[in-house]
Amino acid sequence: MNQTITQNAVTVTALTMKFDAKTVFHDLNFELKQGSMTALLGPNGTGKTTLINILMGMFPATAGSYTFAPGIKLGYVPQFRNLDAEYPLSIRSFMELNGPLFKSAEFKAEVNHELIETHLDSIQHIRMGEASGGQKQRAYLAQALLDKPNMVILDEATASLDPVAKEELMGLIKHLNEKHQITVLFVTHDVPLAKKYMKEYLYLNRGQLTQGKMTTFTEVYE
Ligand SMILES: Nc1ncnc2c1ncn2[C@@H]1O[C@H](COP(=O)(O)OP(=O)(O)O)[C@@H](O)[C@H]1O
Ligand SMILES: [Mg+2]
Repeated sequence: MNQTITQNAVTVTALTMKFDAKTVFHDLNFELKQGSMTALLGPNGTGKTTLINILMGMFPATAGSYTFAPGIKLGYVPQFRNLDAEYPLSIRSFMELNGPLFKSAEFKAEVNHELIETHLDSIQHIRMGEASGGQKQRAYLAQALLDKPNMVILDEATASLDPVAKEELMGLIKHLNEKHQITVLFVTHDVPLAKKYMKEYLYLNRGQLTQGKMTTFTEVYE
């Protein structure tokens, strides 16, 4: 038999999350294939961040389970935070926070590589505090890429970016998926942007989840 079997990157089974008496979601079941590119959509407060925080192992679910395939290495780009304009570290030094105290030539070469990959090499010495939203968001991505993940989860990474910065970040994510086979789970509000760049969707609303091809997504919310 000459059959290619696409393995799951992650399998989620009967996942339920409650905060005290409040059920955020109940009995979620889904799979993400290795190399897939999925938008996690849904209205504000529906539990998208809660779901990915559970997948990142930040806190346990109330019930149910999830399993990552052996060899899956996760990278995470958190929801946008505004850094103080006085934040003193350069883009490069900020990335290097995610590294050893003694910076080997090999590590420095890795930093150079990811700076180029994320189009930050020419501005690596400007302070994070004075970087634009798009540059900051790419610095967070570059920092995550230093760990050589084969799956990245991004939470509202484009939420406060202007249209040009949005397209640049999405182009980068597309490149990571297509050229480096990185599995992508991209949390967003922005359905048109998801339609342009993502292939599948997970739609979380009122504690329920649906999954499908992005081209067939027709829900209207908010
Ligand atoms: N640590 C927490 N304690 C109590 N409630 C929480 C906590 N984190 C999130 N929630 C609640 O869970 C729901 C989902 O939040 P969240 O996952 O942030 O939604 P989304 O990312 O889709 O906007 C919201 O009602 C929120 O108030
Ligand atoms: Mg959120």
